[in-house]
Amino acid sequence: MITVTGASGQLGRLVLAELLARLPADQITAMVRDPAKLSDLAGTGLRIVQGDYNAPETLAPALAGTDRLLIISGNEFGRRVEQYQALVAAARAADVGYIAYTSILRASENPMYLAQDHRAAEGLIAATGLPHAFLRNGWYSENYAGSIAQGAGTGGFIGASGAGRIAGAARADYAAAAAKVIAEGLTGTYELGGPAYTMEDLAATIGAVAGRAVSYQNLTPEEFTAALIGVGLPEGFAQVLGDSDRFAAEGWLDTGSTQLAELIGRPVTPLAEVVKAVLG
Ligand SMILES: NC(=O)c1ccc[n+]([C@@H]2O[C@H](COP(=O)([O-])OP(=O)(O)OC[C@H]3O[C@@H](n4cnc5c(N)ncnc54)[C@H](OP(=O)(O)O)[C@@H]3O)[C@@H](O)[C@H]2O)c1
Repeated sequence: MITVTGASGQLGRLVLAELLARLPADQITAMVRDPAKLSDLAGTGLRIVQGDYNAPETLAPALAGTDRLLIISGNEFGRRVEQYQALVAAARAADVGYIAYTSILRASENPMYLAQDHRAAEGLIAATGLPHAFLRNGWYSENYAGSIAQGAGTGGFIGASGAGRIAGAARADYAAAAAKVIAEGLTGTYELGGPAYTMEDLAATIGAVAGRAVSYQNLTPEEFTAALIGVGLPEGFAQVLGDSDRFAAEGWLDTGSTQLAELIGRPVTPLAEVVKAVLG
């Protein structure tokens, strides 16, 4: 039995679809805090269980019978380490035999704020002594959906990653890799990303797809953070994005690894395809 957490999320749903194409549905469990969110998948035959990272008592029962667990990282900054502690303790209590975890590129030394919790999660999982896989995902190219829409609509977008190279890939690529790893019980640390692009490259790609000139304006991380707050992003999230771009400019979202294409057995989705999908 394979259990996937975060199964109602954008990545989780794509992982479930990949697993359903690979395995009998009765070997797949989707763990969600609100099972109603997966009601559209009830007819597939997969098992849907309730589990909330913030309610530790729900987790071991949710994981009962699980041989391999895929933990999709959470999105509540400031609470994630305690959530992972609870999940890993529950996995041990439920006698789970293997854990895979969606992490970040070079998690062991990555200086981004976002990497701190991933580093802690990897440490907790490694300390179990269980066979495990760290799926160190690069940026989802869909993270730039707002920039893509802005660029296509107005001819420009902003950021603070300078000439930093982003080894991005489509969410679907990372999902396919995660499904392969968990379905086959592969172990190890995987640095996952696609062919790298800069924001100038992204501007050119948006321009080519939208049929107009698109320019990228680079700001300081502080200016970028302020601009994001100015258009209504919560301050904490804007700071996380500013911090991420600061270190992206230094190359921390780049990787020379080709493990993603190797795992999925096909080239990573071209950036232009992601741009087209975002623009509908
Ligand atoms: N590499 C990247 O570029 C990148 C970008 C964005 C995010 N991420 C990370 O990758 C993860 C998956 O990405 P995504 O796009 O699929 O994010 P998403 O759509 O926001 O999905 C997050 C999932 O986590 C679940 N979750 C959150 N808090 C939970 C809790 N307390 N208990 C149980 N489940 C909980 C959510 O459940 P609900 O449906 O109930 O909310 C949802 O299923 C994110 O959570 C984040 O850690 C990576």
